[in-house]
Amino acid sequence: MPQKTVLITGATRGIGRGIAIGFQEAGYAVFGTGRNINAHKADFSWAKEKGIELLEADVSNQTAMEEIIKKIRTSHGRLDVLINNAGIAANTPASRITPEEAQKIIDTNFKAVFQNCQAYYLAQRKEGGNIINVASVLGMVGTTLASVYSGTKGAVIAMTRSLAIEWASSGFRVNAICPGFIDTDMTGMIKKREAILAKMLEFIPQKRLGKPEDLAGAALFLASDGASYITGQTLVVDGGLTAM
Ligand SMILES: NC(=O)c1ccc[n+]([C@@H]2O[C@H](COP(=O)([O-])OP(=O)(O)OC[C@H]3O[C@@H](n4cnc5c(N)ncnc54)[C@H](OP(=O)(O)O)[C@@H]3O)[C@@H](O)[C@H]2O)c1
Repeated sequence: MPQKTVLITGATRGIGRGIAIGFQEAGYAVFGTGRNINAHKADFSWAKEKGIELLEADVSNQTAMEEIIKKIRTSHGRLDVLINNAGIAANTPASRITPEEAQKIIDTNFKAVFQNCQAYYLAQRKEGGNIINVASVLGMVGTTLASVYSGTKGAVIAMTRSLAIEWASSGFRVNAICPGFIDTDMTGMIKKREAILAKMLEFIPQKRLGKPEDLAGAALFLASDGASYITGQTLVVDGGLTAM
């Protein structure tokens, strides 16, 4: 059987990196993206050692993303799984968020996810495919300092359902994963402030932040044949936060 392929956006660190390592260990040929790969601003030897190929592209650059999908299909014949993970947040009060800041969050977290889903569908429409969108529990429940971010994540959950229905007959499954609070750069501010962290842990039944690798199992399950009758769904990985 040919080796399966996966493309994970935003795989240079955090959740994307955790998912990339999980898929590599499960035998996939793994491709990831980030914005600063060629400038070597960070040490990517972990990826090289594991044979994970990191490619530079801003996720909102439609042409660059189409080229990456094409490159993988040329070298491996098909792209089995697309994981739209790249995202940004802004801990800014709703009254102070600027139009530019709001637009950047919308472009990265929602518009680019749609564009990548569309590019993947158009490239794979003869073979079918599997899309996993990384949304957030903040697309399901509210909190402070996350207005535009929450809006984009709620939109991704809704879009996931619609695409699942529209593309089901073409052999595509489209699902979302909603992480709770995961220990990455995005939540670094929380970890630095002990009082905020303690307050947050009060609300998480498992009493810990998630680890990036906690998301790998959920993504692998949705990518697997065992999930072949699951589409348009949202899998929450949050230590019980939203079960409260
Ligand atoms: N951490 C959490 O608690 C949490 C909870 C719920 C949902 N999420 C979601 O999970 C996803 C990953 O979050 P994370 O916590 O791992 O964040 P992170 O540690 O800040 O990492 C973000 C990743 O996205 C990439 N990225 C950001 N903007 C990009 C762009 N325009 N083009 C290409 N890549 C871009 C970054 O790569 P470069 O900087 O190298 O370009 C990096 O690999 C996001 O969608 C986030 O909203 C996170």
